[in-house]
Amino acid sequence: MLAARIRGAARLTILTGAGVSAASGVPTFRGPEGLWRQFRPEDLATPEAFARDPRLVWEWYAWRREKIAACRPNAAHDVIARWSGVRPRNGATQGSDPGTERLKVVVLTQNVDDLHVRAGTRNLVRLHGSIWELSCWNRCATGAAWRDERVPLPEPPPRCPRCGGLARPAVVWFGESLDARDVGAAVEATECDVFLTVGTSSVVYPAAGLVHRARERGAFTAEVNLDETPASSMVDLAIHGPAEEILPAL
Ligand code: OAD
Repeated sequence: MLAARIRGAARLTILTGAGVSAASGVPTFRGPEGLWRQFRPEDLATPEAFARDPRLVWEWYAWRREKIAACRPNAAHDVIARWSGVRPRNGATQGSDPGTERLKVVVLTQNVDDLHVRAGTRNLVRLHGSIWELSCWNRCATGAAWRDERVPLPEPPPRCPRCGGLARPAVVWFGESLDARDVGAAVEATECDVFLTVGTSSVVYPAAGLVHRARERGAFTAEVNLDETPASSMVDLAIHGPAEEILPAL
């Protein structure tokens, strides 16, 4: 049923969360082994925590960067990347048959691990930023983030190359707003034929509100998750199982 919906769609939007990266070995936040079972978000993932103890926050991010650096995209990332570059109407891959209308796929992720990037996903919006990017804590110069993939980072906490002040992970912390352009792109992507929410507990807003918005706008909505979530009862179809098996089967 979902496969048929996707095949018939002109616009497909996929929202992903930590469950998509679980099979790669990236810890989720709220599962039995989840990060928020061992650590308190207010100690590690807020601007107040960073202001209080930047070294402690950086030690936690350096540990996560090390863990993620050892992880590879799994079958769920691969399928999403393939979908983001194909036209399923006639089965042709992108680049051939230029006259054919393309499926427009937008991938919205809450994951900061960049495994979607490494899988080659197109039209990707990283709603919560990237653990592989840093920005200036003092918001000097343009405020633009820069990429730093060094593992381990030399002597945390790292410094801003422009002003010499503290650098921070370019991720969205609790109490911070998402980038307005990302929110705009996400809201625009709720105007779609099929909205698929995959591997997210659907409790962190504004990301969790997108599936509701898509449904209100007339999209067919579906969830792929190991467990029930607050979204399960409102979507048109809830499939319970591992994303790395369900998506390739689709
Ligand atoms: P969570 O850890 O809250 O939820 C992960 C979801 O994935 C759960 O609902 C699991 O049941 C499901 N899951 C686990 N393994 C799966 C698998 N193999 N296949 C399918 N589903 C699976 O992660 P998120 O929903 O991504 O934000 O969390 C949202 C945000 O909360 C994160 O981006 C982060 C966190 O605090 C910030 O840090 C701002």
